[in-house]
Amino acid sequence: MSDFDSIDFFTDQSIIRDPNPYLDHMRSKCPVLVEPHHGVVAVTGHDEALAVYRDTENFSSCNAVGGPFPDLPFTPEGDDISDLIAKHRPEMIMHEHMVTMDNPEHKLSRGLLNRLFTPRRVKENEEFMWRLADTQLDEFVKSGSTEILKDYAKPFALLVIADLLGVPEEDHDEFRIRLGSPRPGAVVGALDKDVLDQNPLEWLDSKFSQYIEDRRKEPRGDVLTALAEAKYPDGSTPEVIDVVRSATFVFAAGQETTVKLLSAGLKFLAEDPELQQRIRDDRELIGNFIEEVLRMEGPVKSTFRLAKKTTTVGDLEVKAGTTVMLCVGAINRDPSRFEDPHHLDLERHNVKEQMAFGRGIHSCPGGPLAKVEGQVSFNRFLDRMGDIRINEEKHGPADARVFNYEPTYILRGLTELYLDFTPIG
Ligand code: HEM
Repeated sequence: MSDFDSIDFFTDQSIIRDPNPYLDHMRSKCPVLVEPHHGVVAVTGHDEALAVYRDTENFSSCNAVGGPFPDLPFTPEGDDISDLIAKHRPEMIMHEHMVTMDNPEHKLSRGLLNRLFTPRRVKENEEFMWRLADTQLDEFVKSGSTEILKDYAKPFALLVIADLLGVPEEDHDEFRIRLGSPRPGAVVGALDKDVLDQNPLEWLDSKFSQYIEDRRKEPRGDVLTALAEAKYPDGSTPEVIDVVRSATFVFAAGQETTVKLLSAGLKFLAEDPELQQRIRDDRELIGNFIEEVLRMEGPVKSTFRLAKKTTTVGDLEVKAGTTVMLCVGAINRDPSRFEDPHHLDLERHNVKEQMAFGRGIHSCPGGPLAKVEGQVSFNRFLDRMGDIRINEEKHGPADARVFNYEPTYILRGLTELYLDFTPIG
């Protein structure tokens, strides 16, 4: 047994900073492997992962977010546990959100989001992003240094989603305060006490319920009205709470992930002046750069499925009731799919095969939007920040850098990134 075999992927902090040697080790044993600590089937191979993502006949998403935690609220029995899942679903975490739903409910819930992703809405949202990028940069760019998550990535990602959902601009400050990214100097005033008392997701639910109810009574021709008037395919009107859940889940899914994409990308640029210069000189390269950042440092580290029926993954028999973990970070560095996988290659021919956004019916509907957020942000960073480099006081010298990452098995991302740069304008 190697040292790696004693590591518990779910709890061991020693693999947080750099999980790749551990994931390479797992893959080298087999692209599908029973992880010894929790009996989870870990998938590290690209082909095998694709097969699981596409197989909704044999796999349920009911445990998509937490995987083996918490325990299932029932004991699996037999070779088909579809009925048990249906019976106990309301006891499972995040059961009210589309990411854990199976069809037919999933299709209905996801359908409610279609109004957000029309070409016109996406274009308007992009126009907002260009304006927002400059407003955020104005807050700190003259100083020549930044902690980019706090100063830019968090408020940017939050307000892009707020705009996508049609939250009126006069409410943006309240969203920033409630969701933990207040504008410097914003007057919190009377909100103070409530902010401390109320869970942000509950607050979002009540805020959006109010928006949707108001627009159902009094349509205003805005995005929230379009959401409020969305119908199911059979023509029936969804309950307010179902529309609200589809909308508020977008905050949960689209905010932190984008923050992680932007900060991971900036770290690559700041660590590699040649790469930075190449992209500075040729902005057409930003598209492939974003794909490569997603491949190498995908913000979602693992997604999960529960085997509904006894089936196989690769060559392994998987009993109904088994948790299957799709190790996105490992899948995206599978050498049988990506040549020289630990190297960022702007010319990689098959970079679009990266799976940072998952695949199949749950594949991320916000993927194209996240890429536009990247395009806008990296372009404006390079326009307004010259010679971007790592702040050595905070992260140490080049041969002894220290970066901290979120201590979780679900997401991959820096907790902070301090940068120095030469202000351009
Ligand atoms: C770099 C940024 C992002 C990454 C890496 C990412 C990744 C993912 C992944 C891997 C899934 C699939 C989960 C599964 O199959 O179990 C997912 C689902 C989802 N994402 Fe994203 N996401 C990102 C940004 C966004 C944005 C910006 C939005 C919204 C505007 C968004 C909204 C959603 C929603 C609503 C789902 C659930 C879809 C469903 O269950 O059908 N995501 N995301």
